[in-house]
Amino acid sequence: MDKKKIVITGASGFLGYHFLKAYSTDYPIVGIYFNTPIIDFENISKQKFDFSNDTDLISFRHFLEKEKPDFILNFAAIANANFCEVNPDISSKININLPTTLAKTCQELNIKLIHTSTDLVFDGERGNYTETDQLDPISIYGKHKMEAERIIQINNPSALILRLPLMFGLTPQGTGFFQNWVEKLKSKETLFAFTDEFRTAAAVNRVVEGIKLLMDNSESGIWHLGGKENCSRFEFATRLAAFLNITNPNIKSSIRADVKMPAPRAKDVSLNSNKANFIGYTPLNLEDEFRIIFN
Ligand SMILES: NC(=O)c1ccc[n+]([C@@H]2O[C@H](COP(=O)([O-])OP(=O)(O)OC[C@H]3O[C@@H](n4cnc5c(N)ncnc54)[C@H](OP(=O)(O)O)[C@@H]3O)[C@@H](O)[C@H]2O)c1
Repeated sequence: MDKKKIVITGASGFLGYHFLKAYSTDYPIVGIYFNTPIIDFENISKQKFDFSNDTDLISFRHFLEKEKPDFILNFAAIANANFCEVNPDISSKININLPTTLAKTCQELNIKLIHTSTDLVFDGERGNYTETDQLDPISIYGKHKMEAERIIQINNPSALILRLPLMFGLTPQGTGFFQNWVEKLKSKETLFAFTDEFRTAAAVNRVVEGIKLLMDNSESGIWHLGGKENCSRFEFATRLAAFLNITNPNIKSSIRADVKMPAPRAKDVSLNSNKANFIGYTPLNLEDEFRIIFN
């Protein structure tokens, strides 16, 4: 049987890199990038599109008609909440218009759409959110991701929508909070970490396994792929320092009210991922995930 063909938007990003690293030999993949070159893996071809540009969006549709992939994984996003807060127009183009176009195009062309959303669609007042809980985002980023979920569900009922947590892992480009924290801990530069912000952070390797599991099972609808434990950023930093055997780590506790940032920060957007756990998504505790990452 022919291997399923995948197109990945945002293949040059953090999640894209890890998906390609894990599965580039399992599928023929076309990776889409804009500003950042995609790391070379076997079986990958690459195409450049600017999804904030309407002409490029039309060309992308023609590209899909020609390419006829089985799946589109939409990892493209403006995922920096502070940037979205001060640049709502560009956030809206990538975080709403692109998924809207993908939802309609995939429905018409019979391509399975797998879209990535965020834990920040919740207000963070309660935590342990399930897939059916009330959405009430407090930032522009969260609001735009919620709107994309709504539009996709209307226009493409068989789409798979994944709400992802804060993810950690290493990339060759050194992107993401985790690598920055590892470097700060090692160099003893002060690492400020909130004691009043809680996340079910997940290893990005585990999240890509979850995505593959749901793809293989032909699932649709909304799924949470959170990590195993809910902890504060301060606890996360402290456990990472202990794992790295750093003596007297220079971690300073802070609270969200101490730091002025454009986007409001939710207290506890921990995801309840029982639905995915039940079918075999098994994130590990933090130290076990760290061990795998640094192996
Ligand atoms: N990272 C996390 O902890 C986290 C947490 C929750 C949810 N998520 C969600 O997970 C998904 C992946 O996030 P990520 O961390 O991998 O994001 P990322 O590292 O910031 O990557 C974003 C990707 O979007 C692409 N992109 C942005 N603007 C574009 C444009 N105008 N045209 C074409 N491509 C464009 C970027 O391409 P270029 O760099 O080539 O321009 C890049 O490949 C997103 O849906 C995000 O909302 C992430």
